[in-house]
Amino acid sequence: MASIKATEISSLIKQQIEQYETSVDVQDVGTVIRVGDGIATAYGLENVMAGELLEFSTGVMGMAQNLEEDSIGIIILGPYSDIREGDEVKRTGRIMEVPVGQELLGRVVNPLGQPVDGLGPINTSKTRPVEGPAPGVMARKSVHEPLQTGIKSIDSMIPIGRGQRELIIGDRQTGKTSIAIDTILNQKDQDMICVYVAIGQKESTVSGVVETLRQRGALDYTIVVSAGASDPAPMLFLAPFTGVSMAEEFMYDGKHVLVVYDDLSKQAAAYREMSLLLRRPPGREAFPGDVFYLHSRLLERAAKLNDDLGGGSITALPFIETQAGDVSAYIPTNVISITDGQVFLQSDLFHSGVRPAVNPGISVSRVGGSAQIKAMKKVAGTLRLDLAAYRELEAFAQFGSDLDASTQARLGRGQRTVELLKQDLNQPLPVEKQVAIIYALTKGYLDDVPVTDCLRFESELFTHLESNNNELLEHIRTTGNLPDEGELKAAIASFKKGFVASNE
Ligand SMILES: Nc1ncnc2c1ncn2[C@@H]1O[C@H](COP(=O)(O)OP(=O)(O)OP(=O)(O)O)[C@@H](O)[C@H]1O
Ligand SMILES: [Mg+2]
Repeated sequence: MASIKATEISSLIKQQIEQYETSVDVQDVGTVIRVGDGIATAYGLENVMAGELLEFSTGVMGMAQNLEEDSIGIIILGPYSDIREGDEVKRTGRIMEVPVGQELLGRVVNPLGQPVDGLGPINTSKTRPVEGPAPGVMARKSVHEPLQTGIKSIDSMIPIGRGQRELIIGDRQTGKTSIAIDTILNQKDQDMICVYVAIGQKESTVSGVVETLRQRGALDYTIVVSAGASDPAPMLFLAPFTGVSMAEEFMYDGKHVLVVYDDLSKQAAAYREMSLLLRRPPGREAFPGDVFYLHSRLLERAAKLNDDLGGGSITALPFIETQAGDVSAYIPTNVISITDGQVFLQSDLFHSGVRPAVNPGISVSRVGGSAQIKAMKKVAGTLRLDLAAYRELEAFAQFGSDLDASTQARLGRGQRTVELLKQDLNQPLPVEKQVAIIYALTKGYLDDVPVTDCLRFESELFTHLESNNNELLEHIRTTGNLPDEGELKAAIASFKKGFVASNE
């Protein structure tokens, strides 16, 4: 008995020694032990780094996620149906990175930075890690330059500054994507680079967006990063990080960048899926415990850099889709607390024809006001409060009692304000025109114009000013200040004399 045991032990030791030797050379090569739904588990790969890029024997790449004692969890970045149990998986020694640079402008890429627009390879010479540190306190400067969205209701009441993070939140089909497109269109000749990150959207929607941008000449300064609805969850998780890495390259080069994440709800859902498959413990709404960190580390990378670092900026517009207007759900409250304000789009406004359906009552911009041009600040200063007061009065006036003249006047002004803040799709308006029409409104020039004529009044006023008083518009555009008010009033009055209301 004892002698048998001894041989057993010695063979075991021999085996151990043999295994020890092999384990030395499998440090860089592991074996897949489980695969499915975009996730693989591998054995070996003992020195792998968190976030390291790995290569499967099929050529598909993966990213190391869970590092456990005897196995690692890998997210698979590509088709996973050809990967088999027992396949090799190799270390690359590199942290996950994506190509960056000028060459990407005008292109549509997937979250790995590979072109998906059929226009051939992209010859970039640089890469950046997808996960990087956000600029620290001393590297930053306070936000002070405006980012004009070209949307009247946003620029006047909820202004956004370069380097700010402003959440766009609303139910499905409330015009969220349209706001992103209009904002990108309005950056033409504004010395801005745009990155549009489409997460979990239908391919047809994304191709529609790309087509609009191309037709309007906006694709030349835009990079589209797309992880479609049919892509595996890890790609959706990665897409916003890819977008911000591409943006950072420009920011550290002293340029201004706008990044749109459309939308982070889908990224959070993809991250939840991925985390559950990686067997991380679920928390509230089954999201993993670090879903807050997922969004905060992404959005912290938006910044306005100080002058020593070139003064570049990344402005982030994250989107969140709510269910039935519920802003107190887990992901919406998280992102509200990370951002510097939110634009709330309300579906009943949208359906009643108020488009863009911005609800100014619960929308806010915590830093943009300091970035607004002086002229806009002056004319639109009280617009938001006036509108909120009007909404209250409107509810009250429904009781139908006799209203005194001043209440009626305020109701009339309110109706015209709501009407004038409506704006058609793909019609971003330069700031000087916005100032002119809001000036006319707040000075009472529209009070006797029928509500249904207000938008026609607006477009005709612009034509009139352009052909007769272009210097006034020019003054606002170049100096940011209001021109001589006497001249502006005279111009508006002379236009109004010739304006014919439709019921006359
Ligand atoms: N200002 C506007 N004027 C007229 N129509 C608009 C306006 N904004 C959006 N729409 C229309 O409303 C529809 C929904 O818009 P959009 O796709 O931007 O909404 P969304 O909130 O992004 O939707 P989803 O939840 O599907 O992503 C589109 O058909 C769009 O053309
Ligand atoms: Mg959308």
